[in-house]
Amino acid sequence: MSSPIALTVRGRGPAILWIHAFPVSSRLFVSQFAIDGYRHIAPDLPGFGASASAPFPHSLDAAADQLLAMMTDVGESQFVAAGVSMGGYIALALLRRAPERLRGLMLCDTRETADTDEARQNRMKQIERIEREGAGFLAAEMLPNLVSNHADDSVRTRVRAMIQEASPSGITASLRAMASRPDSTEDLRRSDVPLLLVTGSEDTITPPSEAKRMASLRRAQLAEVDRAGHLACLEQGPAFNEIVSSFLGSI
Ligand code: MLT
Repeated sequence: MSSPIALTVRGRGPAILWIHAFPVSSRLFVSQFAIDGYRHIAPDLPGFGASASAPFPHSLDAAADQLLAMMTDVGESQFVAAGVSMGGYIALALLRRAPERLRGLMLCDTRETADTDEARQNRMKQIERIEREGAGFLAAEMLPNLVSNHADDSVRTRVRAMIQEASPSGITASLRAMASRPDSTEDLRRSDVPLLLVTGSEDTITPPSEAKRMASLRRAQLAEVDRAGHLACLEQGPAFNEIVSSFLGSI
């Protein structure tokens, strides 16, 4: 069955599924496609990037099911899943729904817990604002939290462009799906899939303390990327890739 998800596929070797953050796209991973010896598969989630016209699923677990079907379509029964922030929530849903398909899990600038009541209320306010005035304000509002003060202009321009491509309905549907996601603590604790936890040292949305808490739940490799914010993989691509390559080499 053909999938509504636009895909970037690069390289040859064992597959890595790269799942992007909110509200950007697969171009978040341009630097990672240079990691040699792997087949990089990076979808634009529905509502984002080249999939902007597709509807975002009603839940993150449903988004995970869509990605599992897409990986079957591209001939990959097993793969390493890597998720940044919202992509990490979806990677945890993959772990819940199909642990047997994961050779490894890389959780980047993300957390395993569900939203607090306050976070949920903030998402609802953001949804109301987007429904009232459109999503034009989002890039300027979010950019300072997505990258650190060290990010150069090309990184900022790239992030802004990705946010501007997202559809308002994709943004609001994914906010609703994030607000209703379950806690994944037990899924993570019970799993023995090789695990890498990596965070930008200056991430203010999911600070390094979140990864440290996840690391306390079970055996994991834990790393920080210096001089990077929430989108560490884009902001400090070579340093991030070194951490990822060392993890991939160990599994
Ligand atoms: C993301 O980067 O995907 C978001 O910050 C995640 C969230 O809003 O919880």
